[in-house]
Amino acid sequence: MSEENFYFEFAIPQRFISDSVQLEKVAFSHNSSGMEEFSLVESQVDEILGERSYSGGDLPVSVLDEVEATITNQNEKLFKVYFLTEKDALCFQKEIEECFNYLPEVSKKEIQDWNDEWRKHYNPIWISEELEIVPAWDNSHDSNSRKQLYIYPGMGFGTGSHETTYLCLKSFVEQRNRVEYKRCLDFGCGSGILGLAIQLFNSTCTLDLYDIDPEAINNCIQNIELNKFEQNPINLYGPDKKESIQGQYDIVFANILLNVLLFERDLIVNSVAPKGILILSGLLKGQEVEVIKNYQNYNSDLILISVDQKNDWVSVTFEKNQ
Ligand SMILES: C[S@@+](CC[C@H](N)C(=O)[O-])C[C@H]1O[C@@H](n2cnc3c(N)ncnc32)[C@H](O)[C@@H]1O
Repeated sequence: MSEENFYFEFAIPQRFISDSVQLEKVAFSHNSSGMEEFSLVESQVDEILGERSYSGGDLPVSVLDEVEATITNQNEKLFKVYFLTEKDALCFQKEIEECFNYLPEVSKKEIQDWNDEWRKHYNPIWISEELEIVPAWDNSHDSNSRKQLYIYPGMGFGTGSHETTYLCLKSFVEQRNRVEYKRCLDFGCGSGILGLAIQLFNSTCTLDLYDIDPEAINNCIQNIELNKFEQNPINLYGPDKKESIQGQYDIVFANILLNVLLFERDLIVNSVAPKGILILSGLLKGQEVEVIKNYQNYNSDLILISVDQKNDWVSVTFEKNQ
């Protein structure tokens, strides 16, 4: 069998890795085809919290105690890193040993398993006639006239499969002709997916991406490179750079927890330029009522232009009057 029929997998326990962002950087620099983070903790926390794990809001103390007890008793995380060639896998192995003084074992596996275990979770996502989200490795697609955004499923939230990401993208595609957009902001950018989609439609638009999670910023860099946006005006702001969000933007996305949308309301609303568009999501059905009221009470120039729903999730889109 040729090498094409195999892939190479590392399963690295968290205790050997002092910096997971560094791990992901090394993986990506050696052409890793993907990385997954396995954690019993997370799956069990999700089980306890259900949809509250995403939607935010205050959790009862009893639930927090339960989560803490679960976390304390659980196993450590496991990082799985995948390569399509032995050469890349061995270079990765060598650099990990240099960085972390730990030599990870590599397993050679048949590609059939790979497809079953990893890639099948990430299929192209059709947003509209004009836009499709495609996994990093998928070059089998005939896009016709559709624009394709490639996303590497790293550790930043936003592969396009979550309802809230889909709703934001759909609203952008539907509303984008209302405004001539020259400056855009993605507040809580995760993988960068929302802002980078804008770049596909207008490559001269200046884009500011902000997230409090350094892993998200790292994933944005990967996705900027993947889509060959290197020459475009994109600014990345991590947790210590919030003050860099300055001035006003023609399109602002904030797909984020309800409590963060409320907490950051002033900054988010004041960032929207006159005639600009504000797309908010991360809301469970029903939560939009509070957000709409809260935002419009703060600024009566926010005109609600659409409320969209997919399964249990909702997005709201405003246009700023002046
Ligand atoms: C639901 S994800 C959205 C990611 C991406 N924009 C999308 O639509 O798929 C929310 C993101 O907001 C970030 N976040 C959470 N709290 C934040 C805060 N206070 N300020 C900025 N970003 C925050 C998280 O790290 C996460 O990447």
